[in-house]
Amino acid sequence: MLDALKPQPQDKILQLIAMYRDDPRTQKIDLGVGVYKDATGLTPVMRAVKAAEKKLWEDETTKTYTALAGDPAFSAAMVGMILGEGFADRAAAVATPGGTGAIRQALELIKLAAPGATVWISAPTWPNHPSIIKYLGMAMAEYRYFDEATRGVDFAGLMADLAKVKAGDAVLLHGCCHNPTGANLTLDQWAEVVKLLADKGAVPLVDLAYQGFGDGLDEDAAATRLIAGAFPEVLIAASCSKNFGIYRERTGILIALTSPERKAVVQGNLNFLNRQNYSFPPDHGARLVTMILGDAALAADWKAELEEVRQNMLGLRQQLADEFRRATNSDRYDFVATHRGMFSRLGLSEAQVNRLRDEHGIYMVGDSRINIAGLNAKTVPILAAAIAAVGG
Ligand SMILES: Cc1ncc(COP(=O)(O)O)c(C=O)c1O
Repeated sequence: MLDALKPQPQDKILQLIAMYRDDPRTQKIDLGVGVYKDATGLTPVMRAVKAAEKKLWEDETTKTYTALAGDPAFSAAMVGMILGEGFADRAAAVATPGGTGAIRQALELIKLAAPGATVWISAPTWPNHPSIIKYLGMAMAEYRYFDEATRGVDFAGLMADLAKVKAGDAVLLHGCCHNPTGANLTLDQWAEVVKLLADKGAVPLVDLAYQGFGDGLDEDAAATRLIAGAFPEVLIAASCSKNFGIYRERTGILIALTSPERKAVVQGNLNFLNRQNYSFPPDHGARLVTMILGDAALAADWKAELEEVRQNMLGLRQQLADEFRRATNSDRYDFVATHRGMFSRLGLSEAQVNRLRDEHGIYMVGDSRINIAGLNAKTVPILAAAIAAVGG
């Protein structure tokens, strides 16, 4: 039976990691993989996570199963962090293995409820979005998002394409810190998108993987909150991988907003999907998050460290924009300072990306997405000079 399997295409980012690892040069720079790194190149365990783990190790008395939806305290804490007060009676939720698990379960829920629905994704988007949608055999359409000339949002194109959305279609939106471009809508633009999609009768699916990495914890949830207040039904797939730095613990949540009357049925369907796919969701990371959000001192320390992370990336963005001005004698890379989140798409050609790798030991994804956190004060000028050298 297994003879029938064909090789799967290799994940481009994992391929890049392997090439970087095998590169013998000492001056190489990795801007590919999407994890936060501090100035020393480490992806640290956050202080509050360590403290919560220590307390958990001391206090935990059992590792018996939780519930199909995970611990209700985790759901309540996450709904509070993302949406604030006032949504408890509308929010069904399940813990999932990471944000990816939440997206997968959201898509399965859409398929279960409306098998013919089209899922709209931004062009470009995180490659796992179309990959999972195709794997599930769902109909998919793209809406324009990125303006290659300005490296900002192609808002006119986005609105023109979303005008074609049909009632009952699902529209996948990045809640903040768009991956891979780093270009984001303003709140006024979000309001226009919300009005258009609400008039169409679309169902938003918000992917919130970087809350706290852009403009702040509440600021990064502002678009999601706007959406939550404007639609009768909303799906939110949130990840704790980045903002709690617990990538390998696989911690995420799918929140489905519905009417208070439908909530029990929706919750039952979410539980059902967890049961079919992996039964009980992972608990360790979710428990740490619950402990941190439920303890004033731990929460304050976590927020302070998350703010350091955010400021570090903002500082690197500004430094990079300044270095680009010097290296290229132009302001055409100023957009780097206005982008938000961990990534920016620089708008280089594939040939330039390859030259950066071969001639300068600088690794980035083929579409010229860089991980800002892969830089530090010393490597920023090196990157700017190398890009200028390849004609960027
Ligand atoms: C846009 C986006 N969504 C979701 C995820 C899911 O992350 P995870 O499954 O590691 O929590 C990521 C991670 O890279 C992402 O970039």
